[in-house]
Amino acid sequence: MSVLIEQKKRSLIEFAKLKQSGEKIAALTAYDASFAQIFDKAGIDWLLVGDSLGNVIQGQKTTIPVTIDHMVYHTQCVSRVVSHAYVAADMPFLSYTNIDVAMHNAARLMQEGGASMVKLECDISHLALVEKMVSEGVPVCVHMGLRPQQVEKMGGYRVQGRDDESSKAMQEAAIAFENIGVDFLLLESVPRKLAATITAKSSIPVIGIGAGPECDGQILVMHDALGFTQGHVPRFARNFYAGKGVDSVNKAAEAYVSAVKSVDFPSEEHCFN
Ligand code: KIV
Repeated sequence: MSVLIEQKKRSLIEFAKLKQSGEKIAALTAYDASFAQIFDKAGIDWLLVGDSLGNVIQGQKTTIPVTIDHMVYHTQCVSRVVSHAYVAADMPFLSYTNIDVAMHNAARLMQEGGASMVKLECDISHLALVEKMVSEGVPVCVHMGLRPQQVEKMGGYRVQGRDDESSKAMQEAAIAFENIGVDFLLLESVPRKLAATITAKSSIPVIGIGAGPECDGQILVMHDALGFTQGHVPRFARNFYAGKGVDSVNKAAEAYVSAVKSVDFPSEEHCFN
């Protein structure tokens, strides 16, 4: 006999409580209904329909070819089946060049796609745009640090915030975004110490990927977490399908949730110092 445990749907209020209590937020990317359902049942708190779908679903070299139509389609696939996790969707490259474009595309992700939140890769130059989105009632996650949509400008995928100037700029931007009402911050590939400082100073949840265990939560691209990635695997990833006694995607997802909640992941080898 199987016992179905009803898990309460995650909300921004619940995430504020998790931040206060110190319970870590377990997050993964998902792009389709089958994996989204498995992750949802495993207790993932935050599911991101990432524009990394360009790499892992479409076989593109970067996320730049991903369009808002692609994002809407995959967000629908995920949001239709989820009952516990909070669903966020990425705004793809050049989909937020001004406020009208940004509002139109955020509306598509939320109204057509069913997302509860949108994520934008930002620096401080996006402050006014994000402020307007927030004031219109759009829940926003600001993604800082390594911004894969800027790969052509950054000249590759590099750790960000290593020098004093860029570290200070990221800390100031984090405070500024929180002050205008952003709901989540996401830090990708930044030194552990910098991510820890930003997390300690923020009263909103900070999700890390390659940003160390002090963040309020962790996210991985699902293919990295399940060992499905072909070719280069980022140093900050762990294959949860390779763990002892793990013989299904369901168990791998449960192992991931448990490792994040118990702060067993990430460990030192996954951090940049
Ligand atoms: O697109 C994506 O999957 C992301 C994660 C790497 C956080 O932005």
